[in-house]
Amino acid sequence: MVSVRSHDDVTRLALSAMESTADPRLREIMVSLVRHLHDFVRDVRLTEPEFRDAVAVLNEIGQLVSDTHNEMMLMAGSLGVSSLVCLLNNGDNGNTETAQSLLGPFWRLNSPRVANGGSIVRSGTPGSPLFVKGRVRDRDGRAIVGAEVDVWHSSPVGLYENQDPEQAEMNLRGKLTTDEDGCFAFRSVLMAGYPIPTDGVVGRMLRAQGRHPMRPAHLHALIFKPGFRVLISQVYDPKDPNIESDVQFGVTRALIGDFVQHSEPHPSAKDVVGGWYSLDHTYVMERGEAVLPRPPIR
Ligand SMILES: [Fe+2]
Repeated sequence: MVSVRSHDDVTRLALSAMESTADPRLREIMVSLVRHLHDFVRDVRLTEPEFRDAVAVLNEIGQLVSDTHNEMMLMAGSLGVSSLVCLLNNGDNGNTETAQSLLGPFWRLNSPRVANGGSIVRSGTPGSPLFVKGRVRDRDGRAIVGAEVDVWHSSPVGLYENQDPEQAEMNLRGKLTTDEDGCFAFRSVLMAGYPIPTDGVVGRMLRAQGRHPMRPAHLHALIFKPGFRVLISQVYDPKDPNIESDVQFGVTRALIGDFVQHSEPHPSAKDVVGGWYSLDHTYVMERGEAVLPRPPIR
């Protein structure tokens, strides 16, 4: 005897089908997904043409994914979901502030080693000199010695080296090791903010919402030390005009950097003429298992 007479019956039947999932965690996720999805369809009274459009849009997102472009991840970020997942799973499961942030699409394995105080500028990159000093600490403020610190950032015109034929391989990328005080330091050039790709579904959504596609200027870091959760962080320049409206919702208060503009001569770098910038930042790691993410590009 067929039991479905109304839309409520369909929801009940679909939910009980999800309940038959063997794996308990997958069952929990599928039951909740169907409950929220059905509630969403009721909430907006989704029409049949809108439903067909929605299926076409999801198909298009999948077709836009390649080895070098992830439209789905871009969409997750542009809806705030990536940031939500990050903040829920770090900082004592979302109860305290955290230095964790999004990995982004441009981390590469095996960036070249740089001695403390060295430069990560590998080809002529016009821009203001930037001197970064980082401290890596545990939650009690103790120095973490011998941590491996990958840093990478966009150029002063907002392009990563892998997007820009003008830049040498691995320009503005480097791997440092914290010293006996848990510190690292390097020289670079001040980075700029940049737009995310807007030639796909995400771009259409942003235009429909009157949103700009920009991410504010930031320094990426990935810090590895056994005994600690791998720290994936971004430090933002608060003077960036888009600091309050990051298209990927990645900016949190804990990630605001102390970028300082200087007009006095640099104390040691004699080749610096005119202005320069400094960034002093403390990275705080949480104890846990050190698991490296899969690199999004090679
Ligand atoms: Fe980035």
